[in-house]
Amino acid sequence: MNPEELKSSVTAAGKLPEHVAIIMDGNGRWARKRGLLRTAGHRAGVKTVKKIVRIAGDIGLKYLTLFTFSTENWKRPKDEVSAIMRLLEQTTKKELSELLENNVRLIATGNIENLPPKKREVLLDAIERTRNNTGLVLNLALSYSGRAEILQAIKNITTDLSSKKISPDDINDELFSSYLQTNGLPDPDLLIRTSGEMRISNFLLWQTAYTELYVTDVLWPDFSEDDFLKAIADYQRRDRRFGMVSPSKK
Ligand code: FPP
Repeated sequence: MNPEELKSSVTAAGKLPEHVAIIMDGNGRWARKRGLLRTAGHRAGVKTVKKIVRIAGDIGLKYLTLFTFSTENWKRPKDEVSAIMRLLEQTTKKELSELLENNVRLIATGNIENLPPKKREVLLDAIERTRNNTGLVLNLALSYSGRAEILQAIKNITTDLSSKKISPDDINDELFSSYLQTNGLPDPDLLIRTSGEMRISNFLLWQTAYTELYVTDVLWPDFSEDDFLKAIADYQRRDRRFGMVSPSKK
Protein backbone atom coordinates (compact mmCIF):
# COMPACT_ATOMS: atom_id res chain seq x y z
CA MET A 1 0.00 0.00 0.00
CA ASN A 2 1.27 3.49 -0.74
CA PRO A 3 1.27 6.01 2.15
CA GLU A 4 -2.03 7.65 1.13
CA GLU A 5 -3.76 4.26 0.80
CA LEU A 6 -2.42 3.21 4.20
CA LYS A 7 -3.69 6.44 5.75
CA SER A 8 -7.18 6.01 4.23
CA SER A 9 -7.34 2.38 5.27
CA VAL A 10 -6.34 3.22 8.87
CA THR A 11 -8.92 5.99 9.16
CA ALA A 12 -11.63 3.88 7.46
CA ALA A 13 -11.00 0.82 9.67
CA GLY A 14 -12.85 2.57 12.51
CA LYS A 15 -11.06 1.02 15.47
CA LEU A 16 -8.67 3.94 15.88
CA PRO A 17 -6.86 3.86 19.22
CA GLU A 18 -7.87 6.81 21.38
CA HIS A 19 -4.51 7.14 23.09
CA VAL A 20 -1.12 6.13 21.66
CA ALA A 21 2.00 6.30 23.83
CA ILE A 22 5.51 6.09 22.39
CA ILE A 23 8.88 5.21 23.89
CA MET A 24 11.09 7.11 21.45
CA ASP A 25 14.27 5.05 21.60
CA GLY A 26 17.38 4.80 19.45
CA ASN A 27 18.56 8.38 18.95
CA GLY A 28 22.01 7.52 20.32
CA ARG A 29 22.40 4.44 18.14
CA TRP A 30 21.24 6.33 15.06
CA ALA A 31 23.97 8.92 15.69
CA ARG A 32 26.68 6.35 16.46
CA LYS A 33 25.97 4.50 13.21
CA ARG A 34 26.74 7.74 11.39
CA GLY A 35 29.78 8.67 13.46
CA LEU A 36 27.89 11.64 14.93
CA LEU A 37 27.44 12.88 18.48
CA ARG A 38 24.45 11.58 20.44
CA THR A 39 23.02 15.09 20.43
CA ALA A 40 22.78 14.92 16.62
CA GLY A 41 20.57 11.87 17.17
CA HIS A 42 18.29 13.86 19.48
CA ARG A 43 18.09 16.67 16.92
CA ALA A 44 17.06 14.14 14.27
CA GLY A 45 14.61 12.72 16.82
CA VAL A 46 12.87 16.08 17.08
CA LYS A 47 12.21 15.99 13.32
CA THR A 48 10.46 12.65 13.81
CA VAL A 49 8.44 14.12 16.71
CA LYS A 50 7.13 16.83 14.37
CA LYS A 51 6.17 14.33 11.66
CA ILE A 52 4.40 12.00 14.08
CA VAL A 53 2.49 14.80 15.83
CA ARG A 54 1.29 16.01 12.44
CA ILE A 55 0.10 12.61 11.21
CA ALA A 56 -1.46 11.80 14.61
CA GLY A 57 -3.55 14.97 14.37
CA ASP A 58 -4.34 14.26 10.71
CA ILE A 59 -5.86 10.85 11.35
CA GLY A 60 -7.89 12.18 14.28
CA LEU A 61 -6.06 10.60 17.21
CA LYS A 62 -7.20 12.11 20.51
CA TYR A 63 -4.12 11.60 22.74
CA LEU A 64 -0.44 11.11 21.97
CA THR A 65 1.99 10.65 24.87
CA LEU A 66 5.72 10.83 24.12
CA PHE A 67 8.32 9.58 26.61
CA THR A 68 10.58 12.57 26.15
CA PHE A 69 12.75 12.49 29.27
CA SER A 70 12.76 10.00 32.13
CA THR A 71 13.80 10.64 35.72
CA GLU A 72 16.72 8.27 35.04
CA ASN A 73 17.79 10.40 32.04
CA TRP A 74 19.01 13.11 34.48
CA LYS A 75 21.96 10.77 35.14
CA ARG A 76 23.20 11.02 31.54
CA PRO A 77 26.33 13.13 30.85
CA LYS A 78 25.72 16.79 31.68
CA ASP A 79 26.26 17.91 28.07
CA GLU A 80 23.66 15.50 26.75
CA VAL A 81 21.09 16.53 29.37
CA SER A 82 21.68 20.21 28.54
CA ALA A 83 21.35 19.50 24.82
CA ILE A 84 18.02 17.70 25.29
CA MET A 85 16.73 20.52 27.53
CA ARG A 86 17.82 23.08 24.95
CA LEU A 87 16.04 21.15 22.20
CA LEU A 88 12.92 21.01 24.31
CA GLU A 89 12.95 24.76 24.81
CA GLN A 90 13.77 25.59 21.17
CA THR A 91 11.24 23.17 19.76
CA THR A 92 8.46 24.29 22.08
CA LYS A 93 9.08 27.94 21.15
CA LYS A 94 9.47 27.26 17.44
CA GLU A 95 6.50 24.95 17.08
CA LEU A 96 4.01 26.88 19.22
CA SER A 97 2.45 28.59 16.21
CA GLU A 98 2.04 25.26 14.41
CA LEU A 99 0.45 23.72 17.52
CA LEU A 100 -2.00 26.62 17.64
CA GLU A 101 -2.70 26.42 13.91
CA ASN A 102 -3.42 22.71 14.13
CA ASN A 103 -5.58 22.92 17.26
CA VAL A 104 -3.11 20.78 19.28
CA ARG A 105 -3.26 21.05 23.05
CA LEU A 106 0.09 20.56 24.79
CA ILE A 107 0.24 19.04 28.27
CA ALA A 108 3.02 17.45 30.33
CA THR A 109 3.24 14.52 32.71
CA GLY A 110 6.09 14.14 35.18
CA ASN A 111 7.95 16.16 37.77
CA ILE A 112 8.32 19.22 35.62
CA GLU A 113 9.30 21.28 38.67
CA ASN A 114 12.71 19.59 38.18
CA LEU A 115 13.23 21.19 34.76
CA PRO A 116 15.58 24.18 34.60
CA PRO A 117 13.43 27.29 35.36
CA LYS A 118 13.76 28.83 31.89
CA LYS A 119 12.76 25.61 30.10
CA ARG A 120 9.88 25.10 32.49
CA GLU A 121 8.65 28.62 31.85
CA VAL A 122 8.63 28.11 28.06
CA LEU A 123 6.81 24.81 28.46
CA LEU A 124 4.21 26.20 30.88
CA ASP A 125 3.63 29.13 28.55
CA ALA A 126 2.93 26.79 25.60
CA ILE A 127 0.66 24.66 27.81
CA GLU A 128 -1.26 27.76 28.83
CA ARG A 129 -1.54 29.13 25.30
CA THR A 130 -2.82 25.87 23.83
CA ARG A 131 -5.17 25.20 26.76
CA ASN A 132 -8.37 25.77 24.81
CA ASN A 133 -7.41 23.75 21.74
CA THR A 134 -9.77 20.87 21.07
CA GLY A 135 -7.79 18.66 18.65
CA LEU A 136 -4.98 16.26 19.47
CA VAL A 137 -3.74 16.31 23.08
CA LEU A 138 0.05 16.06 22.93
CA ASN A 139 1.34 14.86 26.28
CA LEU A 140 5.09 15.11 26.88
CA ALA A 141 6.32 12.80 29.65
CA LEU A 142 9.14 14.86 31.12
CA SER A 143 11.24 14.00 34.15
CA TYR A 144 8.82 11.11 34.42
CA SER A 145 9.05 7.86 36.38
CA GLY A 146 6.19 5.38 36.60
CA ARG A 147 7.26 4.08 40.01
CA ALA A 148 7.74 7.57 41.45
CA GLU A 149 4.28 8.51 40.17
CA ILE A 150 2.73 5.48 41.90
CA LEU A 151 4.58 6.17 45.17
CA GLN A 152 3.44 9.80 45.11
CA ALA A 153 -0.15 8.65 44.53
CA ILE A 154 0.11 6.32 47.55
CA LYS A 155 1.46 9.16 49.71
CA ASN A 156 -1.40 11.45 48.65
CA ILE A 157 -3.98 8.73 49.23
CA THR A 158 -2.53 8.13 52.72
CA THR A 159 -2.82 11.85 53.52
CA ASP A 160 -6.44 11.88 52.34
CA LEU A 161 -7.21 8.75 54.37
CA SER A 162 -5.74 10.37 57.51
CA SER A 163 -7.81 13.50 57.03
CA LYS A 164 -10.90 11.32 56.31
CA LYS A 165 -11.34 12.94 52.90
CA ILE A 166 -11.62 9.38 51.57
CA SER A 167 -12.23 6.04 53.29
CA PRO A 168 -10.47 2.70 52.57
CA ASP A 169 -13.64 1.48 50.83
CA ASP A 170 -13.31 4.28 48.27
CA ILE A 171 -10.02 2.85 46.98
CA ASN A 172 -10.51 1.23 43.59
CA ASP A 173 -8.96 1.43 40.11
CA GLU A 174 -10.75 4.64 39.26
CA LEU A 175 -9.80 6.43 42.47
CA PHE A 176 -6.18 5.31 42.21
CA SER A 177 -5.98 6.52 38.59
CA SER A 178 -7.26 9.91 39.68
CA TYR A 179 -4.24 10.31 42.01
CA LEU A 180 -1.79 9.72 39.15
CA GLN A 181 -0.19 12.52 37.12
CA THR A 182 -2.15 11.30 34.11
CA ASN A 183 -5.47 12.03 35.84
CA GLY A 184 -8.04 12.86 33.16
CA LEU A 185 -6.31 10.94 30.35
CA PRO A 186 -7.61 7.55 29.21
CA ASP A 187 -5.12 4.68 29.56
CA PRO A 188 -3.08 4.17 26.38
CA ASP A 189 -4.62 1.69 23.93
CA LEU A 190 -1.34 1.22 22.11
CA LEU A 191 2.28 1.57 23.24
CA ILE A 192 4.89 1.79 20.50
CA ARG A 193 8.57 1.33 21.29
CA THR A 194 11.20 1.99 18.64
CA SER A 195 14.66 0.44 18.27
CA GLY A 196 13.80 -3.09 19.25
CA GLU A 197 14.12 -3.08 23.03
CA MET A 198 11.47 -5.25 24.75
CA ARG A 199 11.06 -3.18 27.92
CA ILE A 200 8.59 -0.82 29.56
CA SER A 201 11.45 1.19 31.14
CA ASN A 202 9.43 2.65 34.03
CA PHE A 203 6.91 4.24 31.67
CA LEU A 204 3.18 4.45 32.57
CA LEU A 205 3.35 1.30 34.72
CA TRP A 206 -0.19 1.47 36.09
CA GLN A 207 -1.77 2.85 32.91
CA THR A 208 -0.44 0.14 30.53
CA ALA A 209 -2.10 -2.80 32.34
CA TYR A 210 -4.11 -3.70 29.20
CA THR A 211 -2.27 -1.66 26.58
CA GLU A 212 -1.36 -3.37 23.31
CA LEU A 213 2.40 -3.37 22.77
CA TYR A 214 4.13 -2.79 19.44
CA VAL A 215 7.91 -2.93 19.15
CA THR A 216 9.73 -2.05 15.96
CA ASP A 217 13.46 -2.30 15.20
CA VAL A 218 13.35 1.08 13.45
CA LEU A 219 15.38 3.70 15.35
CA TRP A 220 13.38 6.77 16.41
CA PRO A 221 15.03 9.24 13.95
CA ASP A 222 14.16 6.84 11.10
CA PHE A 223 10.58 6.23 12.29
CA SER A 224 8.29 7.50 9.53
CA GLU A 225 4.61 8.38 9.19
CA ASP A 226 4.27 5.05 7.40
CA ASP A 227 5.82 3.17 10.33
CA PHE A 228 3.37 4.92 12.65
CA LEU A 229 0.38 4.02 10.45
CA LYS A 230 1.61 0.41 10.22
CA ALA A 231 1.66 0.21 14.03
CA ILE A 232 -1.90 1.49 14.15
CA ALA A 233 -3.02 -0.92 11.40
CA ASP A 234 -1.46 -3.76 13.43
CA TYR A 235 -3.40 -2.61 16.51
CA GLN A 236 -6.62 -2.51 14.48
CA ARG A 237 -6.20 -6.20 13.61
CA ARG A 238 -5.89 -7.25 17.25
CA ASP A 239 -8.57 -8.74 19.45
CA ARG A 240 -8.53 -6.95 22.82
CA ARG A 241 -10.03 -9.12 25.52
CA PHE A 242 -9.02 -7.39 28.77
CA GLY A 243 -8.60 -10.80 30.44
CA MET A 244 -11.99 -12.02 29.18
CA VAL A 245 -12.99 -14.34 26.32
CA SER A 246 -13.79 -12.85 22.92
CA PRO A 247 -17.54 -12.88 22.15
CA SER A 248 -17.08 -15.27 19.20
CA LYS A 249 -15.53 -17.93 21.48
CA LYS A 250 -18.09 -17.78 24.28
C1 FPP B 1 16.05 7.97 23.39
O1 FPP B 1 17.17 7.69 22.61
C2 FPP B 1 15.69 9.38 23.39
C3 FPP B 1 15.68 10.22 24.46
C4 FPP B 1 16.08 9.83 25.82
C5 FPP B 1 15.33 11.63 24.33
C6 FPP B 1 14.18 11.93 23.42
C7 FPP B 1 14.24 13.36 23.13
C8 FPP B 1 13.99 13.93 21.96
C9 FPP B 1 13.52 13.21 20.75
C10 FPP B 1 14.23 15.38 21.85
C11 FPP B 1 13.28 16.30 22.55
C12 FPP B 1 11.86 16.08 22.22
C13 FPP B 1 10.91 17.03 22.10
C14 FPP B 1 9.48 16.62 22.14
C15 FPP B 1 11.20 18.44 21.90
P1 FPP B 1 18.48 7.20 23.32
O2 FPP B 1 19.36 8.37 23.53
O3 FPP B 1 18.13 6.44 24.56
O4 FPP B 1 19.05 6.24 22.23
P2 FPP B 1 19.98 4.95 22.44
O5 FPP B 1 19.17 3.97 23.23
O6 FPP B 1 20.23 4.50 21.04
O7 FPP B 1 21.22 5.40 23.14
